[in-house]
Amino acid sequence: MKILVTGGAGFIGSYIVKHLLDNNHNVKILDIKEPKIRHKNLEFVKKSILDDIKKDIMGSDAVFHFAALLGVDNSDKKPLETMKINLEGSVNVFKSAIDAGVKNMIYSSSSEVYGEPRELPIKEDSVKGPVSTYGVSKLAAEIYAKAYNQEFGTDIRIVRFFNVYGPGQESNWVVPIFLNKALRNEPITVFGNGNQTRCFTYVEDVAEGVLTVFEKGKSGEAYNIGNNQPTTILELAQIAKEMTKSKSEIIKLGFGKETRLKEREIEYRIPDISKMKALGWQPKVMIKDGVKRILESMKN
Ligand SMILES: NC(=O)c1ccc[n+]([C@@H]2O[C@H](COP(=O)([O-])OP(=O)(O)OC[C@H]3O[C@@H](n4cnc5c(N)ncnc54)[C@H](O)[C@@H]3O)[C@@H](O)[C@H]2O)c1
Repeated sequence: MKILVTGGAGFIGSYIVKHLLDNNHNVKILDIKEPKIRHKNLEFVKKSILDDIKKDIMGSDAVFHFAALLGVDNSDKKPLETMKINLEGSVNVFKSAIDAGVKNMIYSSSSEVYGEPRELPIKEDSVKGPVSTYGVSKLAAEIYAKAYNQEFGTDIRIVRFFNVYGPGQESNWVVPIFLNKALRNEPITVFGNGNQTRCFTYVEDVAEGVLTVFEKGKSGEAYNIGNNQPTTILELAQIAKEMTKSKSEIIKLGFGKETRLKEREIEYRIPDISKMKALGWQPKVMIKDGVKRILESMKN
């Protein structure tokens, strides 16, 4: 198949592209950043998702939409730019694909759309209540995707990722931050008392999950793609310390204006992945194994 991947030069996108190429698909990356991968079946278009992209999409069998402005803190500082790229850009991708005659799409959304969960584990149809600009922008584009499925008969499937990590992730995310601090024996700081619970999901598992949804998922459905093994932020700091044999001190910063407001923090985030399990997917890489793989990739 011919698949166009927006944001295919990014962290998760590049793993998806590799999996697609390994599965003999032809891939066209549309990104503002040059991809690192080169392959005979890979084409690159340097464009923004805000540009006129109908002609670039034409002839594709499917569009995987991964381009976004990321990061909860980053997007809170740039609310208008976040809405422009994540909402307007997504609507432009969906609408351009529809105009180009492409009906099959995957939209990468986020666990941020749920906000502080009303129930655990979080099911796909659990109440949504994002508390960040980023979360609102991802949910707003989901609502467009569903409306377009209804209006234009498209099949835009939604994948909601839970705290993705792995080799190649930019250094401003929690796993690389903790590992870099530990390797330098510098203090590792956690917000609050570090009891916030996350389910860190290894990027290769995410890529396999996306392909599973593409091949076996139901039309227009949403799927949680996450690990279901909870880890607190304090445990993550301890794992980083232990696995690097570091002398770093772990410091609890508490909450406050200087660090992070308590109201802004999500306490628990654990996905219900039974819908993905029903498609035959489940996460394979648990946190310690994932951290080991990152450390090995840093050595190389
Ligand atoms: N990393 C996570 O933990 C996580 C969690 C949930 C959801 N997601 C979603 O997964 C997707 C990929 O995230 P990632 O972690 O790979 O991020 P990333 O920042 O590594 O990749 C995003 C890519 O989008 C590109 N991009 C940004 N603005 C663009 C524009 N205007 N036009 C074209 N390309 C543009 C960037 O150049 C980059 O290559 C995003 O949609 C994100 O919201 C990520």
